[in-house]
This record gives sequence, structure tokens and C-alpha cells, in this order.
Amino acid sequence: MDSYKLTPLEQQSLQNAVAQLKQDGGPVPRDFGPNFDQMAAKVAQLKKEHDAVVLAHYYVPAATQAMADYVGDSFYLARLAKTLDASTIVLCGVSFMAESVKLLNPSRRVLMPAPHADCPMAHMVRKADVDKVRDEYDDLAIVAYVNTTAEIKSWADVCVTSSNAIKVVRSLPQHNILFLPDMNLGRYVAQQLPEKNVILNRGFCPTHHRIIPAEVEALEMEHPEAEVLAHPECTDQVLGEADFIGSTKQIIEHIAASDQKEFIVLTVMGVSYEIERQTKGQGKKIYYPATPPICPNMAMVSPESLVSCLEKLSGEIDLPVNPDRANAPLERMLEIAGR
Ligand code: 13P
Ligand code: SF4
Repeated sequence: MDSYKLTPLEQQSLQNAVAQLKQDGGPVPRDFGPNFDQMAAKVAQLKKEHDAVVLAHYYVPAATQAMADYVGDSFYLARLAKTLDASTIVLCGVSFMAESVKLLNPSRRVLMPAPHADCPMAHMVRKADVDKVRDEYDDLAIVAYVNTTAEIKSWADVCVTSSNAIKVVRSLPQHNILFLPDMNLGRYVAQQLPEKNVILNRGFCPTHHRIIPAEVEALEMEHPEAEVLAHPECTDQVLGEADFIGSTKQIIEHIAASDQKEFIVLTVMGVSYEIERQTKGQGKKIYYPATPPICPNMAMVSPESLVSCLEKLSGEIDLPVNPDRANAPLERMLEIAGR
């Protein structure tokens, strides 16, 4: 299996998050602690003062999601970014998400509470590999998962997220598709679209790669009635165990709409906050693998970091070089996915 060595910052963040998980007794704490109300009031006041709006991804800590105005998956956040009037947008998530917001709505000030929160997979593409494939095929579309840097997006014809990848790739006129960078999402798309020749890159999400078949099988033995839901960033073997494969939002909505009571969820545990919110009183039970699936980068986006970001107006995202080139594939994704 491909491996990725966590940076010291990621190691520390993961350790802290696992300790917090133990202390809370689960991914959603019974209460957010004595300072939560005070911090939430501060966020509300600072938002008003700075004409700011707060967006969060489902993977950030529950208390941070609870302070946000909008919470969603990557596609929802990208689409929403274009429509916001506030002069400051605070993005509680990782850098590629904040960068996408800035590209899609460049006149706004975009802030990141945890500027070091980066997605390792977003860098896992080598220009030489892209050029090699480009030289090999005439009839080629380059598709970049939104989990990429602006520079990598600027090499692509169109972006996708996990919620629209199949629809977008299917709509492309080209037969050959170079899919960057996630080999797992790329393979899943290829399996759904046998009419396309999908060329895979070697990128992967280290957090979803920590979800291993042995731990999934142990859960299935323990909870034989449970439905298994997986994010397409999981490995092929893990996806083979799944009854349902989808983006974070699709997983949450599937659970909320299901008559089942037990679910094995194979993605980052942050989704539990929204699952609990949407299924309150239904007695649904969610199980995760023994090695807690926590994204160390998303875990850096604490409620404290959100308060401090709004106080200092820190973590501002600059427009990348070549913004039009990087934005074009994002706009094209929004157009195709919205059809
Ligand atoms: P979604 O688009 O499903 O929210 O996923 C984002 C992500 O980073 C998955 O690891
Ligand atoms: Fe990146 Fe994986 Fe974290 Fe998503 S969960 S932000 S793909 S490292």
C-alpha cells in the first residue's frame, strides 16, 4: 500500500483529536464545554463587526461546525462560495477549500482559521506525469479532483468532487480521462463508466487509507445488521465491503432517509455531528473502525482558532498565480454539475 508519513504537526493534531475523542466518549461530545457559549457569542459579534460569514466542512470538529453559518461537503461549499455577499468569508476546512472559495469569489476577503490545515493528497501530482499522458493521447481530458492545489487545477480541463465526479466525467466528449490525484475515486469513477478509458494517478487520502479491510470485517461481524457506507476515497477492497458509496453529504442524507437502525460509516468521524442533527430521536447507531478515522488537518480547525481568526482577521488567502486558469475548471464543474 502507498504510504504517507504524517508531519509532526499532523501527528500532534491526530494525537490531540484521539485523546479528545476518548474524553468525549464519541465523535459528538454531550456538551461543548464551559466556554462554548462565550466563544459562540464572540463569533456572532465579530461576524457582525466584520461583515463575515462562516463556512465549515463536515470533517471539522463538531463544536466548530456548531458555530458555522453553513456546513456542507466540498461541492456544496464551492457552489455556495459564488453566491455569498458578505465581504469576508471564513472557511473552516483545509487549504484547497479556501483557495477554491477565493478563486470563485475573488473580490471577497477569504480567511482560514487554521492556515496550516492542508490536504496532503492535494499535492500528490507530478507535472511530468501529466505531460507524459498529454503527449500520449490526442483525445484526452484532464480531470482534477477539487482536492488539488490551484496550480494543479490550472493544468486541468474540469474539476470534480466526490458527489459529482461520475456525472461530470460521463458528460465529457473525450474518451481518455486522466484523473488527478486520487487513485481510489478515479478507480471508482472508471468502474461506473466502462465506456471511458480512465488513466489513474497515484494520489490517495492518508486518512481514508488508514481504514483497513480487517477493521471493517470485524465491525461487520459485530454488527451483522448494519448497512455499510463508504466514501470513494477508501481503497478498492474497503469499497468492496460497502452497500452505499458517496460523498460526505450523500452518506449523511442516506442515513437520514434510511429505515435501518445501524450503520458502519467509513469516512471521517466529523460527519457524526450532522448525522445526529438530522436523525435526532430516531435511535440510529453509527459505528466506526477501531482506528478512529480522523483527518488531522481538519482536526486543526478548532473553535478557538475560529475565534482568533475573526479577532485578528488572520489566515488570509491570496489569489494564486494564474487565477483565471485555475478557476476555469471549477466554473466548468459548477456548470456541468448544475445541468
Ligand atoms: P466531500 O466532498 O465528500 O465532502 O469530501 C471531501 C474530502 O476531503 C474527503 O476526504
Ligand atoms: Fe484531504 Fe483526506 Fe483530509 Fe479529505 S480527509 S482533507 S482528502 S487528507
